[in-house]
Amino acid sequence: MSIFQDFQNLFNASPNLVSAAPGRVNLIGEHVDYNQGLVLPFAIDSVTYCALRLRDDEKILLSSKQVESKIYETSLSNLAPKTGPDWTRYILGVIWSLGIKRGVEILIDSEVPQGAGLSSSAALECSVAFALNEALSLGLTRIELAQLTQRAENEFVGVPCGIMDQTISLLGKIGHALLLDCRDLTSKLITVDFEENGLRLLIIDTQAHHALVDGGYAKRRAQCEEVVGFFGLISLRDLSASELEKKKMLLDSTLYSRALHVVTEIDRVNAAVSALKRNDFKLLGELLNQSHDSLRFQYQVSCPELDCAVEISQKSGALGARMIGGGFGGSAIALVKDGDVGMVASAVERSFAEAGFKSPRFFDAIPSEGARLIDRRY
Ligand code: GLA
Repeated sequence: MSIFQDFQNLFNASPNLVSAAPGRVNLIGEHVDYNQGLVLPFAIDSVTYCALRLRDDEKILLSSKQVESKIYETSLSNLAPKTGPDWTRYILGVIWSLGIKRGVEILIDSEVPQGAGLSSSAALECSVAFALNEALSLGLTRIELAQLTQRAENEFVGVPCGIMDQTISLLGKIGHALLLDCRDLTSKLITVDFEENGLRLLIIDTQAHHALVDGGYAKRRAQCEEVVGFFGLISLRDLSASELEKKKMLLDSTLYSRALHVVTEIDRVNAAVSALKRNDFKLLGELLNQSHDSLRFQYQVSCPELDCAVEISQKSGALGARMIGGGFGGSAIALVKDGDVGMVASAVERSFAEAGFKSPRFFDAIPSEGARLIDRRY
């Protein structure tokens, strides 16, 4: 049944509109968005739908097809950071950060796998923000929506994420990755055509979620801040590899490793853009491999499942592979020749079984369109 009909059955009225916003993969540029660096994500073809109706009072009624309970009810005057059941906070946070003054009814339905490191939370926030912006004619730009949804996640949900996931969910374009400069939020579309070149980008969801996820992420951010303080900079974006090497002996060795990752990863993003422009997928693959090594050994945000997915992909013919997102679980990507996909996937499956890991899941990463209106009826 369509979300439109589900909404009617649940709320006994039609939604004003239905929006959709996608999850993402990040080709390269990991753990650099909060260091004002460069990232190269693209939107995937799985989306989160938001059907929305404006009310004439202050009530907020929320429901999700992925959650058992029927309808969660609260009101605009009750909105306060870090309140409400977990799944509602992403929605309430957006209503809060956009400063909405009218009650709403919202039904959510999501195709983005949860906990797979594919930004299901950004997809949820962005679909709600996009729907509110349209229904209330707020006139906010997509970049403004990205900033406000990030604020919702940072302050209302309480997760200290950067701005990459929300931005790509809103700005994604079919057939392109987005080269986003996280210092000034300017961006360029970069053509990505795996299919035309006989390739596929395989997403390997390890199904692993390690307890370190939240604490580990915040700790890495704090370590980057320490290096920024040590060098007296505004952000690690302003640190050069030679400057870092010069002061290596004076810097704590863990902090040095963290900074080394950030500085080299930003260079790899530039190199990946040039490789894509020349259709040099061999080089792109090598850059993915280098990125993974750096995330594993310098930044230390990988885990045994991610390392296994990457190593086995590399050994069974992938041009390159790496973990994506925050780390400590979630997904890896592998750049694979079309004809080798089955071989790579079954090798990874076998190794996971031998290691006693949960069975991995596989998806195709197809550069897709960002947030959009699906249906508008008044
Ligand atoms: C998570 C965060 C992003 C980014 C990545 C790591 O996905 O939400 O802002 O920091 O981790 O690159």
